[in-house]
Amino acid sequence: MPVPELSLTDRPLTEPGPADVAAAALLPADDDAPPVPGTGAVELAEAHGVDLPSLLARVRKSEAAGGKPGEVITVPLPARTGPDPGPVELLLVGVGDRSTTAYRRAGAALAKRLTGRRAVASAVTDGADPAAVQAFAEGLALAAYSFKRKSTPAKPATLPVQAAALHVGAAADGLADQEAALARARTVAAAVYLARDLTNTPANVKDPSWLADQAATIAEQARLSIEAWDVQRLATEGFGGLLAVGTGSSRPPRLIKLGYTPAGSDGTEPHVVLVGKGITFDSGGLSIKPNDAMVPMKADMAGGGAVMAVLSALPELDVRVRVTGLVAAAENLPSGSAYRPGDVITQYGGTTVEVLNTDAEGRLVVADALAYADRHLDPTVLIDLATLTGAATLALSRRIGALYATGSADQVAEALLRAGAEAGDRLWRMPLVDDYRHALDSAIADLRHISMDRHISGGSITAALFLREFTGGRPWVHLDIAGPGKVEAEEHEISKGGTGFGVRALLRWLGSAEPVPGGG
Ligand code: BES
Ligand code: MN
Ligand code: ZN
Repeated sequence: MPVPELSLTDRPLTEPGPADVAAAALLPADDDAPPVPGTGAVELAEAHGVDLPSLLARVRKSEAAGGKPGEVITVPLPARTGPDPGPVELLLVGVGDRSTTAYRRAGAALAKRLTGRRAVASAVTDGADPAAVQAFAEGLALAAYSFKRKSTPAKPATLPVQAAALHVGAAADGLADQEAALARARTVAAAVYLARDLTNTPANVKDPSWLADQAATIAEQARLSIEAWDVQRLATEGFGGLLAVGTGSSRPPRLIKLGYTPAGSDGTEPHVVLVGKGITFDSGGLSIKPNDAMVPMKADMAGGGAVMAVLSALPELDVRVRVTGLVAAAENLPSGSAYRPGDVITQYGGTTVEVLNTDAEGRLVVADALAYADRHLDPTVLIDLATLTGAATLALSRRIGALYATGSADQVAEALLRAGAEAGDRLWRMPLVDDYRHALDSAIADLRHISMDRHISGGSITAALFLREFTGGRPWVHLDIAGPGKVEAEEHEISKGGTGFGVRALLRWLGSAEPVPGGG
């Protein structure tokens, strides 16, 4: 399903063109006064014979219509005749404090009222602030996402809105900044759609080679470099984590590499390496999950999907650093050939690991990719995204991702926390507690992959400590996105199912003036 068509116009809202719905802002007023209509709303209603001020005077705040983001008032407009009957209703969309979060939520609330409508003419941003335009457009587009695999075509009344014209008013110096903001919104929304689609695709369709095929398509469309390791090559080169986790499945593992180099590169730009966990289905393996915990596990490649989606958007955003994406893809299944609790495996680079629970598979595949990046890619900073632990969800629930970072990556971590807050992917920094590290000591191997010490729980922290062993002391940020990678209920611009979490934070950060200090 494509992102709704987003366009910008400096015509007044009273000339809404072929739209069947018009939308304008509603601003909260102080104390108990009625909410205040935004630019164009009164004129538009008047043109249709509706006296909006007196209508609003009868709205009390207690009626959940005080102009807060997420609130929408529907004003039916009398039908007109002729070839262009104009809008059938005016939606007044609360924009609250007019922050980017408020505009994103306003866009999302509007999108939800537009189901079954073809096109909307909107002056909700109530002016031409580019940040507001981008946030509103992203919220609208992201909330219009849906993933359906029905055998019969959907009824028109259930389809998401197809087009939105944003009336921003004439600006003296033209609308170039606003057009650029809208273009960014389109690119970001398309990337989030891609990540959601990859995550929502069921695991009977989605296996590691399918994921590699999707990466090849992305590479072709976005002119990225691509390389994919098949199982023979993984074996020759010693990717013992991917091999062990993937061996229980008849659909073998893959390591996928996508590469972006900025236009006009002189080869000296900082190099960001993104690693994604790409478990296309996590049954737990022989340490099998109960059914309820297994059902959502097609989404266990959400990190890998986010990495692929981020790479797909870099050329359009003209990002100024080099970026390599690695997706460690495998299917974790129990079978006669599956790896076992008690196995000792050799990770890429030679570290031996005692496996104690085959359901802690993500860290094994991510460790291989981190070690490969350290050995071969000379990363300025390493960042991984992984639906790694249920413990991260226990700590932060489903709206916030857990961020871990080494001291040498402090500045990147701070920038990512900020980018996430601005873009709508909330992150919270967690500690890499050195005092817990000994829980990963093994009597027979270099490491064990989980803590068996009942005094040291903190499963998200110990998983992060395990991964750190494979980063070669590089600046490293780890995002445990088990909570926000997939959700059970829609909220604001977040759709049910795969959320594309991390894509917006990373694109906002990578698109900033200097994502990595000292270059770019
Ligand atoms: N993919 C899961 C983590 C997960 C859980 C993601 C819920 C999304 C929602 C991961 O592979 C896993 O099974 N982790 C185990 C680790 C344990 C065996 C040490 C967990 O968190 O229970
Ligand atoms: Mn697992
Ligand atoms: Zn998993």
